[in-house]
Amino acid sequence: MSFNFKRSYKFAIKSALYITVFGVGFVGILSHYIFHPDQDHLTAFLIVFAFSLYLFSFLVIQYRVEVFIYRRVKKIYDDVSFLESATVINQPITTDMATLTREVKKFATEKKMEIETLKIKEAYRREFLGNVSHELKTPLFTVQGYILTLLDGAMKDKTLRKKYLERAEKGVERLVYIVQDLDMISKFEMGDLNLSFDKFNIVQLTQNVFDLLEMKAEKKNIILSFDNKYTKPIMVSGDQEKIQQVLANLVVNSIKYGREDGYVEVGFDVLENGKVIVRVKDNGEGIEKKNIPRLFERFYRVDKTGARTEGGSGLGLSIVKHIIEAHNGKIHVQSEFNKGSEFSFTIEKSK
Ligand SMILES: Nc1ncnc2c1ncn2[C@@H]1O[C@H](COP(=O)(O)OP(=O)(O)OP(=O)(O)O)[C@@H](O)[C@H]1O
Ligand SMILES: [Mg+2]
Repeated sequence: MSFNFKRSYKFAIKSALYITVFGVGFVGILSHYIFHPDQDHLTAFLIVFAFSLYLFSFLVIQYRVEVFIYRRVKKIYDDVSFLESATVINQPITTDMATLTREVKKFATEKKMEIETLKIKEAYRREFLGNVSHELKTPLFTVQGYILTLLDGAMKDKTLRKKYLERAEKGVERLVYIVQDLDMISKFEMGDLNLSFDKFNIVQLTQNVFDLLEMKAEKKNIILSFDNKYTKPIMVSGDQEKIQQVLANLVVNSIKYGREDGYVEVGFDVLENGKVIVRVKDNGEGIEKKNIPRLFERFYRVDKTGARTEGGSGLGLSIVKHIIEAHNGKIHVQSEFNKGSEFSFTIEKSK
């Protein structure tokens, strides 16, 4: 700032000096030839004249320059309107130049960042649309295929009719799941989802989830259990239905990506800070390190080829993360490829 301050004054000092030198020289020579004054008088006159002229020019130049720069600075401020022009009024113009440079730089960086985020969002949106249509296409074509076959004559055969209708129904069910998941995610993203907070026993809730998923686990001979005996209830506060969904999604994943004859183990820890940490652990296929950061993205699946028999649309963990974050909790993954995974999340403990 002090640098600019000096520069602005330097300009006025120098310009005033040029004017004074010219003015005094010109007037001195003119008076000398026209009025023939005596030398002492002329010198005294010229000194006073030089002094007054210098002072006057200096003040006028300094003032005019300030007004000139100020108007332009203000116009820039107004044009880009990133800083209230009121804040520059009544400040020395030299300071404004410093502020302006700083603000313009800040403005440019902000705009650049804004453009970058917009570009990322746009790419994300495009990918999302592609994903949605891709996910819907498969079950939709399945349903269409069965219906067309039925119409083409298969409906005359009683056993085929039932079989194909059941398969079509499976496809419709899958469509409904995807749409429900998408609906929930979009509600979370718009902040439209109201949680209804309750106090409940997380141990009991986990047991309910185990009961619901027992059949699914049995198909792969996977044992669902707790890591300890939890004789006392652990009361937490949250939306019970949503937390049940979180547990179900995590346990289903552990079953789906678990190995035959494996296990899924759930454990709880009460933390000092009034939170409970819930861990869902399995000895399944695990996740490679490079895939972990993207797990919670919508539609993200490790195996995209669909070659694997298991696997959904990749929305489950995205929903889990939304639900936990809406409860002010955190979710965390630890996984070792081919060994197993542990998903843990925190939830508020209730008294
Ligand atoms: N316990 C786990 N063990 C190994 N891999 C897992 C586990 N949980 C999730 N994954 C991997 O993370 C991916 C994303 O999981 P997510 O639950 O979001 O989707 P999904 O199970 O494929 O489909 P959805 O849950 O929507 O039916 C899965 O495709 C799977 O590859
Ligand atoms: Mg899942």
